[in-house]
Amino acid sequence: MALLTTENVGIAFGGLQAVGHFDIALEENELVGLIGPNGAGKTTIFNLLTGVYQPTEGQIYFQGKKINGKKPAEIVGLGMARTFQNIRLFKNLTVIDNIKIAFQKELKYSALSAILRLPAYWQQEKVVEDKAIDLLGLFHMEEDAHKLAKNLPYGKQRKLEICRALATNPKLLLLDEPAAGMNPQETRELMETIGFVRDNFHLTILLIEHDMNLVMGICERLIVIDYGMIIAKGTPEEIKNNKQVIKAYLGS
Ligand SMILES: Nc1ncnc2c1ncn2[C@@H]1O[C@H](COP(=O)(O)OP(=O)(O)OP(=O)(O)O)[C@@H](O)[C@H]1O
Ligand SMILES: [Mg+2]
Repeated sequence: MALLTTENVGIAFGGLQAVGHFDIALEENELVGLIGPNGAGKTTIFNLLTGVYQPTEGQIYFQGKKINGKKPAEIVGLGMARTFQNIRLFKNLTVIDNIKIAFQKELKYSALSAILRLPAYWQQEKVVEDKAIDLLGLFHMEEDAHKLAKNLPYGKQRKLEICRALATNPKLLLLDEPAAGMNPQETRELMETIGFVRDNFHLTILLIEHDMNLVMGICERLIVIDYGMIIAKGTPEEIKNNKQVIKAYLGS
């Protein structure tokens, strides 16, 4: 059984069909690229999968359960996490607190033990703190733990968003242009880390990325959309030579 399946999913805004006939199946542990020109509907697809938008047609199944109509927080609880094209962090909190908040669904102490600061609270706090530092370590950001999120350079804010997403212990991770604003060196490192995360956290990743060469380097499979429709699916090699894809990217 596929981890995520969509059947004929679509959404219209007013008269505009932003996404239509969107059919995909993502298997466990796959790293799949979602590409397409500006305004093709990539972010809208993430919004549909995560419950930010409700599809006007079609069905979405995650781990065999239908998730249409569920709220974003419920979907996170089921094991789907994402990052945003426009970074969303608690800018006035520290880096580590941003991650600790995301761990919340894992916490086992009661509200009362938190208020009274009972031992259960401190034990959990320590566990969460250690896990947060481990996640930061993936991106070599341990030394940034106590900085305010807003004081991080852009590239590190994006990495912090990935840490926050990972803290929710997802089975499926959706990354919306995680390398935007990074220089080529940072971008290469990030792509390596994304590969590492996929291998070591046993999760499935759907990655939106503008740089074709980059996605082709790390994804085993690509889905290409243009004007809200899938125009091609296949291996990087197949996509590279697909006439419709070339036309979408270069114009006719
Ligand atoms: N809430 C909304 N209301 C109206 N139109 C919307 C809404 N969200 C997205 N759209 C439209 O849907 C289309 C797809 O937008 P989307 O942001 O998904 O594209 P994208 O592929 O992510 O583009 P980019 O590469 O620039 O990030 C665009 O025409 C956009 O204007
Ligand atoms: Mg987008």
